[in-house]
This record gives sequence, structure tokens and C-alpha cells, in this order.
Amino acid sequence: MGRSAIVLAAGLGTRMKSKRHKVLHEVCGKPMILHILDELEKLELNQVIVVVGQQKEAVSAVVADRAEIAVQEQQLGTGHAVQAAAGLLNAENDTTVVLYGDAPLIRAETLERLLTEREAREASATVLTADVRNPHGLGRVILGSGGLVDRIVEEKDASPEEREIHLINTGIYAYQTSDLLDSLQHLTPENAQGEYYLTDTLEILRNAGKPVYAVQVDDEREIASVNDRAQLAVVEGILRERICEYWARQGVTIINPAHTYIGLDVKIGRDSVILPGSILEGKTVIGEDCVVGPNSRLSNVTLHDRVTVEQSVLVDSEVGSDTTVGPFAYVRPGSRIGEHVKIGDFVEIKNSAIGDCTKVSHLAYVGDAEIGQRVNIGCGVITVNYDGEHKHKTVVGDDSFVGSNVNLIAPVKIGKGAYLCAGSTITDEVPDDGFAIGRSRQVTKGDYVKAWKLKKGQNVRKGSRS
Ligand code: UD1
Ligand code: CA
Repeated sequence: MGRSAIVLAAGLGTRMKSKRHKVLHEVCGKPMILHILDELEKLELNQVIVVVGQQKEAVSAVVADRAEIAVQEQQLGTGHAVQAAAGLLNAENDTTVVLYGDAPLIRAETLERLLTEREAREASATVLTADVRNPHGLGRVILGSGGLVDRIVEEKDASPEEREIHLINTGIYAYQTSDLLDSLQHLTPENAQGEYYLTDTLEILRNAGKPVYAVQVDDEREIASVNDRAQLAVVEGILRERICEYWARQGVTIINPAHTYIGLDVKIGRDSVILPGSILEGKTVIGEDCVVGPNSRLSNVTLHDRVTVEQSVLVDSEVGSDTTVGPFAYVRPGSRIGEHVKIGDFVEIKNSAIGDCTKVSHLAYVGDAEIGQRVNIGCGVITVNYDGEHKHKTVVGDDSFVGSNVNLIAPVKIGKGAYLCAGSTITDEVPDDGFAIGRSRQVTKGDYVKAWKLKKGQNVRKGSRS
């Protein structure tokens, strides 16, 4: 009573006009083919086979650890592609679901319904169908009596009357495995495209007196397939909407879903607000009561609770509770920012730890540094972490004050409670509670400008020093 799946992904997808194979194009940040494998995984099948052909190395590399690979050297049609997988198919698995790699929005629940229907009705096959407004380019489903499918006719082979039919083939089928294997042997390429059509297996089974049923999809948006980039954008839009709707129902406020981009593996806590233009990628996790955006990109970032990120980019980093980031901050990989921290405008943090309650309020670069708690990093502070060959570390102890425009020439260590004067270039270690000033003395020449102006015959200010 096991189940197998065959996913067809041999055809390049010429209409994509791409160097890249169609099924490797991403939808919401994930290759199309992996969307399908992810859904199949939920069904706990005994076997998954992917049929590859064009760019077989590239496609195999993406799916190899999750599926068996069958190779279809020449693409002679969808039926021919399933024939290429037949040798691998475990005939002990009673049901085989076949789907195409270019329709990535199908949900496991729908596949389960198609499979269960096949099994419950002891049908030779069930076909997932949809009643669509515009059937253009798709195979039409010809129904017989009692909901039985007589056959599927491709648009190129259809009569004018058949083209009027709006019930279409989604390209997703559940077969009784042995009936699939038998019917595959009888395919011929006698049609407008000279291809071995998988759809012909249904007519072959019907002619042998076996039942094939149509199962209609509830939500048409699930079966959208991609043949060109315009359809890719449509599919992307549908999935984006689905993801935003999901999070909205989980208690997240999304102001404008049309301009919010949330990856499939992202998690968001309740009462967080995602403002327009936000792109949440990879394994990003957002806590409760956060506000993200507008126009922020977070990639593999963890935000704890009550964090605000405004107009900023954060990558591969973690931000503690009650911290604010931005506007216009750039937090680069490997950064761990504590709680109640302020990372202000035009600040760049890279591969650094920032302790709780520390402020980096504006225009600073903190790279390869370990900054303690309650530190003030003044405006324009720079960790000089790179000597042209190597990166070096800066350490600043708790409760220290780093004045504006200080250069910290790494490697350098500042103790706790230290005070670094504004404009200093700090090259040496400063002890706990130490005071450091490292700048040249000011020279003031009170009469310099006056003499120069008089020489040029210009007026000088009354009362200015002579
Ligand atoms: C197919 C169906 C059509 C259905 C439509 C749904 C057939 C004959 N037609 O048409 O009824 O309405 O899908 O989208 O099946 N592939 C291979 N090897 C091949 C040919 C195709 O692996 O030799 C793969 C392609 O990579 C693709 C999938 O099968 O992922 C579908 O092929 P495609 O040529 O796009 O079929 P359609 O003409 O869209
Ligand atoms: Ca197609």
C-alpha cells in the first residue's frame, strides 16, 4: 500500500529564454522544483523520482539528496519522460503520483486528496482538473458519464468544439502503479506534436474498461504553471500573497501584502508589524511586537521581541529584545547585538558583538569588535580593523565612552569605564577607567586671517584681535 512520486523536469523550458533550467528558477527565493519536493515530503511517500534531461547535472545537484534520479536523454514528451522513470519505479507501491516540475504551487493537502480518491475508489487513475476562465494552451478534459474521464486532448490536437471546454488538465495524476506501467507501453507519438503524451495513458486505460476520475482543485491558484517569465511573476505573486495571508492569520500585521516579501522558511511572532518594502529571507525569525520596515531586508536574521528595524539591511545576525536599528543601518554577517541597544543612522556593524544598552547612534563603523554593555560609541567612530592584509579585533569594555570621530586602530583593547577623547586615534591599550587622548594640539593664530585680508584690501570685522 505504499506510494511513489515521479516529478518531470527534463525539458529545459525554452520559453523562459534563460541559461538556467526552468525548474531551477526561484519562486519566493526557492527553486521551483524544491517547492514540489517540500510538499511531497509532507506526504511521507516511499519513493520520489525526479526525471532530468536538459542540464541534468545542474538539476540533479539541487535534488539529488532528496530524490532518485532518472535520466531522459531526449525529450520526446511527458509520456516518454515517465517511461524513463519506469525502470526505477517500485511496483510494490500501489499508487504513483505524477507531477510536472513547472507547477510549484501545489499543496500537499490537494495531492493527498487526489491520492486518497484514487485509492478509495480503486480507480486506475485520478486526474487533478480545474475549471478555468482561460484554458488557452492547456490540455482539455473530456468527461464521460458518472464523472469518468474519457480522455485528455491537447490544445494543438483539439477540435474547435473541444477548445470550448474550460475543464483543463493540471498535469497532476495519481495512478494505480501497475496500470500506469502497462499503459505506458502502448503510447504512440501520433499527434500534432509528434510526442509521447502522458495524457494518452488515460484514454488507454479507459479503452481497457478501467475507471479514471477527475478530481477538481478547490483553489485554481494552486495549479498555475510556469512556461515563461510572465507566468513566473504571476506564480511568485500568488505565493507571496499566500505567505502574507498565512502570517496575517497568525496575528502579524502586514500593511501592504503586495509590497511585502516573506520567504517560506521565515517565522514571525504575534503583534509584529511588517511595513511595505520589507524583504524577509532565508531562516529569518522575528519575535513578538517587532516593527520591521519600511524598505528593510533581513536575511537569516533573528530578531528577539520588541525590536524595531527601519530602512535597514541585516544579514546573518541576531538582535536582542527592545533594540532599535536604523534608519539606514547595515548589519553584516556574524553580528550579535544585545538588548536595549541603539544602532542608529548610517551605522555599519560587521562580525561584532554589541553588549546590552550600548548606543552606536550615528555614522560609525564597527567591524570585528567586541563592545561591552552600556558603552557609548560616538558619532563617526571607526574601528580600523584592516591593515591591508589581515583583519584585527577591537575590544571595548563595559561602561566606556568612545568620543566622536575616534579611530580605534586594531588590534586594540579598551578597558571598562574608560574615556576616549573625541577625535583621538587610539593605537594602544587603555586600562579600566583609563583616559586617553590621541590627537595633535590645536594651534590658534588669532591675527592670521586679518593680516591676510588687509593685504588684499578687504574689510575686517570690528573688534577682531590684532
Ligand atoms: C502538459 C499537459 C497538458 C496540461 C499541462 C499543464 C501533456 C501531453 N500535456 O502540457 O495536458 O494541461 O501540462 O501544465 O502532458 N517534460 C519532460 N520531458 C519531456 C517533456 C516534458 O520532462 O519530454 C516535463 C517538462 O520539463 C515540464 C513538464 O514535463 O516540467 C510539462 O511539459 P510541458 O511541455 O510544459 O507540457 P505542456 O505542453 O505544458
Ligand atoms: Ca507546461
